[in-house]
Amino acid sequence: MSRETSTTMTSAPAGPGTEPDELRSLLRHSRDLILRSQAPSGALPAAPTYRVYQYCWLRDGAFIAEGLSRQGEVSAAQAFYAWCARIIEARESRIESLVVRLRQGEQVPGSDMLPTRFTLDGDEGTDEWWDFQTDGYGTWMWALQQHLSRHGGDPEPYRRAVQLTTSYLAAAWSLPCYDWWEERQEQRHLSTLGALDAGFTAAQQLGLLDERQREEAAQQQAALRKVMNTEIAGQGHLVKWVGSTDVDGSLLALVAPFGLLDDQAAAATVEAVERDLVRKGGVYRYLEDTFYGGGRWPVLAGFHGLALDRLGRTEQAWEAMRWMTSTATPGGDLPEQNSDLLLHPERYDEWVEKWGTVACPLLWSHGMLLSLAAGLGVTV
Ligand code: BGC
Repeated sequence: MSRETSTTMTSAPAGPGTEPDELRSLLRHSRDLILRSQAPSGALPAAPTYRVYQYCWLRDGAFIAEGLSRQGEVSAAQAFYAWCARIIEARESRIESLVVRLRQGEQVPGSDMLPTRFTLDGDEGTDEWWDFQTDGYGTWMWALQQHLSRHGGDPEPYRRAVQLTTSYLAAAWSLPCYDWWEERQEQRHLSTLGALDAGFTAAQQLGLLDERQREEAAQQQAALRKVMNTEIAGQGHLVKWVGSTDVDGSLLALVAPFGLLDDQAAAATVEAVERDLVRKGGVYRYLEDTFYGGGRWPVLAGFHGLALDRLGRTEQAWEAMRWMTSTATPGGDLPEQNSDLLLHPERYDEWVEKWGTVACPLLWSHGMLLSLAAGLGVTV
């Protein structure tokens, strides 16, 4: 039995300095907020009250659903995966034609590739966006596999969607694309490659690929790992993109929950991120971040906590969780980023003028709190 299902809040040691009642009520609020915000279609909006985030991102949605799944919200998590399967199947002929074009070596423009976010009804919307990002397509398969292995359930309804996603990624993984932060389209980002690595493994474990697809996935995954390992060999830890020496907070996810690194590379990656990007318990995205002045992100503190727990630094994992909870509004909402200790405070106002104040609540922040709490043995 996993730690998260064997212990409840009332019996779990609360961890150093934690207020058990406050934490429990924040977890309940997080769960209820996500469930209330989930569309009848199963889609999970990034931020229900923030104008530009009224869409469902595969990346955010998968991590939110993972938080629900880890906290035992089986049907809501499943409704999200079923929604993913429907939006992918609805694009079957487009995906098949993209795969053919990519295999033939055509330089397919990013605008032809699959989008990163969808309306809650599964359309693509009309707003311009930094759409070509592949990580979410790996992450949803990873989350689905985690969910089914945790709670059981029939993988069969996901067969076609997993097959289509896998062949799309097998053809597209090596292309530069926007990263988790929807930036730097010209680079090959290690966090993106990590999400695809996790996705390839999940697709194979789900047992839904035919022989030829399984071989192709394994072959492409091996090539992808070679790229990641070369970067690790160069710097001793993961780096922001191929050829970079910098780190990015999103790399923590490759330590945990994706679990892609051996102990040495995992410890070195966490250390490098802590050296450059962790301040007073919170984690910055990267040093040049100017979005709303570049604050520290609760989502990243969630990944940091999971990574610390994976390294056996459990007390510090609790500290990361405490920092996350310290960013909550009096009503319990978690923001996309905390607006103190900004890296570039002079760049804050321009974003408020453009898009309004920082997104709050951000469901991904709440989903990460649910995941980290579960990882530390605390269930709602
Ligand atoms: C972040 C993305 C996120 C999106 C929706 C963007 O500002 O950079 O990582 O998927 O917001 O939450």
